[in-house]
Amino acid sequence: MKITIFGTGYVGLVTGACLADVGHHVLCMDVDKAKIDKLENGQIPIYEPGLKAIVNHTVEAGRLAFTTDTEKAVRHGTLQFIAVGTPPDEDGSADLQYVTAVARAIGQYMDDYKVVVDKSTVPVGTADKVRAALRAELDSRNLELEFDVVSNPEFLKEGAAINDFMKPDRIVVGTDSDRAAELLREVYYPFNRSRDRMIFMDVRSAELTKYAANAMLATKISFMNEVANLAERLGADIEAVRQGIGSDPRIGYHFIYPGCGYGGSCFPKDVQALSRTARDCDYDARLLNAVESVNYAQKHVLFDKVSHYFRGNLSGKVVALWGLAFKPNTDDMREASSRTLMEDLWKAGATVQAFDPEAMEETQRIYGDRDGLTLCGTKEQALKGADVLAICTEWKEFRSPDFDVVASALREPAVFDGRNLYEPEMLERYGLIYYAIGRGRNQFHTV
Ligand SMILES: NC(=O)c1ccc[n+]([C@@H]2O[C@H](COP(=O)([O-])OP(=O)(O)OC[C@H]3O[C@@H](n4cnc5c(N)ncnc54)[C@H](O)[C@@H]3O)[C@@H](O)[C@H]2O)c1
Repeated sequence: MKITIFGTGYVGLVTGACLADVGHHVLCMDVDKAKIDKLENGQIPIYEPGLKAIVNHTVEAGRLAFTTDTEKAVRHGTLQFIAVGTPPDEDGSADLQYVTAVARAIGQYMDDYKVVVDKSTVPVGTADKVRAALRAELDSRNLELEFDVVSNPEFLKEGAAINDFMKPDRIVVGTDSDRAAELLREVYYPFNRSRDRMIFMDVRSAELTKYAANAMLATKISFMNEVANLAERLGADIEAVRQGIGSDPRIGYHFIYPGCGYGGSCFPKDVQALSRTARDCDYDARLLNAVESVNYAQKHVLFDKVSHYFRGNLSGKVVALWGLAFKPNTDDMREASSRTLMEDLWKAGATVQAFDPEAMEETQRIYGDRDGLTLCGTKEQALKGADVLAICTEWKEFRSPDFDVVASALREPAVFDGRNLYEPEMLERYGLIYYAIGRGRNQFHTV
C-alpha cells in the first residue's frame, strides 16, 4: 500500500520504517530539512535500537523515502499518517498547531480519496478539528472529495520501539467508516498474524484510550513514589514492599518501580493535557492532578538528599552524574529527571560531571558549553575529582560498576541513586553510604 507519514520523529520514523519493512511503500515527510538531509544520507537523527538497520535496508529496497515536499507527500499515499509533535501549550493543553497544519496541507493538495490517520497523541475531539481544517481547504478549492479521519494512537515505548511496533499488544483504531477500517486492516495485516490485535471503536474513545493508558502508567509510578516517601519516614524498605505487592497478580510487577520521577515526551504532557481536557468540560480530575504534583516533587528528591548530606551548603561541590536520558536505551531528554537535578544543583552553586551512554550530544544541544557542566567520555571519568555520585537513569552499564573505583575516586563516600540499582549492604562493604529512594529511615532527610 502507498503510505505517507508526516513527522519523522520517534513515532513517525519508526512507523515509516516498520511499515516499509513489511512491504508497504512509504514516503516520510518532515518540515525539518536538516532531519531529512540526515536521513537521505543514511544517518538516523535519533537513537533507537534496531532502527538504523531497518531504515537502511528499506531505503535500499526502494520502499522507504524521505521528502520535505508537502505536495509530493500528499499525492503519494492513500493513507496519510499524522505523527507530528503535540507539545504542551502554556496552559498544559496539547498544542495542535502541527496536527492542523498537516490537515490543511492534505486539504490543499489531495486529489482523490484519502484516509487521514492520526497517530499523534491528541485530545478527544481532534479528529473533528482535523476534518474541519481539511474540509475548509477543499471548500476553498471548490472540491468535494471524499476522505476519512481515523484515530490510531501509538503505544510504542522509546528504547523498545521496533519490537513494540512489530509485535504490538493491541492496535487501536477509532473510526465510523467501513472503508477506512478495511484499509487499516490491510495496512496492519502483517502485524496481526498470530492473533487479532486490532480493536475497533469510535473515534473519541480511541483518542481517550491513549491518554487513559499513559495516565494509568503515570499513576502507578506516582503511587509507588508516594509509598516510597512514606517508607523512608516509617523505616520500611520500598524494595521489599514492591515485591510484596507485585506478587499479587491483580497488581503485577510492571511499572511499580520507585524512583526520582517520570519524564519523557509522553507521561508529563499527556497527564497534564488530560487534566486540562477535564477542566474544559467542568470536571476536576483530582487523581490526575495529584499524579502530576507527586511527580513534580519527586524530581527534586535526589537534590534534597544531596543537599542534606552537605548540610545545605553545596557551593563548590562537584557531583558526578550517571544517566541523562529520561530512561535507558534512548537519547531523549525531554522532561528528564536528570535535568531537574542538574538545574537544582547549579542553582545551589554545585557543578556537575555527567556521563550518559547515548544522550551526550543531546545534553550538549540543550545546555551548550555552560558553566557548571562537564560532559565526560566514560562513567569513570565523571567520578574523577567529584565529591559524590548521583544516578538518574538505569542504563545496564551502571548496574554493576567497579565499586572500588567508585569509592576511591569520590571525595565523599556517598552514592545518591534515583533508580534503586544496588543493594545497600553491598555498597556498605565498599565503604560507601547509599542513599536510594524509599529504602529505610536513613534515606529520609529534611534540610
Ligand atoms: N515518543 C514516544 O515515545 C511516543 C509514543 C507514543 C505516542 N507519541 C506521540 O506521537 C507524537 C509524535 O511524537 P514524537 O516523539 O515522535 O515527536 P518528535 O518531536 O520526535 O517528532 C515530531 C516531528 O514532526 C515534525 N513536524 C512538525 N510539523 C510538521 C509538519 N507540518 N509536517 C511534517 N512534519 C512535521 C517535526 O519536525 C518532528 O521531526 C506526539 O503526539 C507524541 O505524544 C510519542
